[in-house]
Amino acid sequence: MATKKSGGGRKTAPAGTAAKTAANRGKKKPTDLGANRTGVQTAPLRAKEMAQATEAVQGDPTLASALAGARAEASREAPPVGTMPMPGTVKGAAKTVAKALQGEKATVFLDKLGERLAFERTGVRLYDAVLAKLPAARLTEGSLTVQEVRGFRDEELAHLHLVKDAIEALGGDPTAMTPSADLAGVQAQGLVSALTDPRTTLTQCLDALLTAELADNDGWKILIAMAEATGQDELAQRFATALAEEDHHLASVRVWIAERLGIQLGKPLPSTDFGEPAQPA
Ligand SMILES: [Fe+2]
Ligand SMILES: [Fe+2]
Repeated sequence: MATKKSGGGRKTAPAGTAAKTAANRGKKKPTDLGANRTGVQTAPLRAKEMAQATEAVQGDPTLASALAGARAEASREAPPVGTMPMPGTVKGAAKTVAKALQGEKATVFLDKLGERLAFERTGVRLYDAVLAKLPAARLTEGSLTVQEVRGFRDEELAHLHLVKDAIEALGGDPTAMTPSADLAGVQAQGLVSALTDPRTTLTQCLDALLTAELADNDGWKILIAMAEATGQDELAQRFATALAEEDHHLASVRVWIAERLGIQLGKPLPSTDFGEPAQPA
């Protein structure tokens, strides 16, 4: 038999897992002392030399202003990152959008909807990456569970479909990469890299996830405000449901981080006031 029942009624681990777990136990943690030689305290005698060299480079203020000038010039002349796609048919999409938004700048709203769509898609991938970290993480303490992480992942996917439906209802094309969607992808590159790096720990990944959830939360608030401003009240209500879920994601990720850091410190952290509730009362 490949598996047999243990005392707790749990199945025994697959072959090789015990060896992997043992190896894991001896694995270095990022907070262990190691061969990090980046600080000046590693070579105090060279520190003075380095400080002198830095002062020499900083000495010319014209270099900094020349660089700022070149950037300003480039910004003035550069084309936009992208533009909005042409509507599929003048009869269909263009008219639908114009009518639905009652003459408002439909492309401004559709651009931000495209951004949210891209971000929610990334959100699914980020949670998938967190799920992949869980087998190697210690989950015996703290409130984080595989089920809850999976649930949040599924909610991100549901949000993606919510935005897709909204774009379609307004006559837009959800498969189009809008300029803001493009930028959202660029911004999230660091988060994806951090989460999919096999060397990063679950605790480190939760920090990356927190960055995403903070942006996610504000993103939904802006979308709700834009929907209200353009008379899309029903849409605003549906977005508010998504915001309530994002609120829960944000609060949970904050708790998970505090719990894990408390475990690593050997002292539970006192509860922290992060300011106003994420969702307006
Ligand atoms: Fe989200
Ligand atoms: Fe979220």
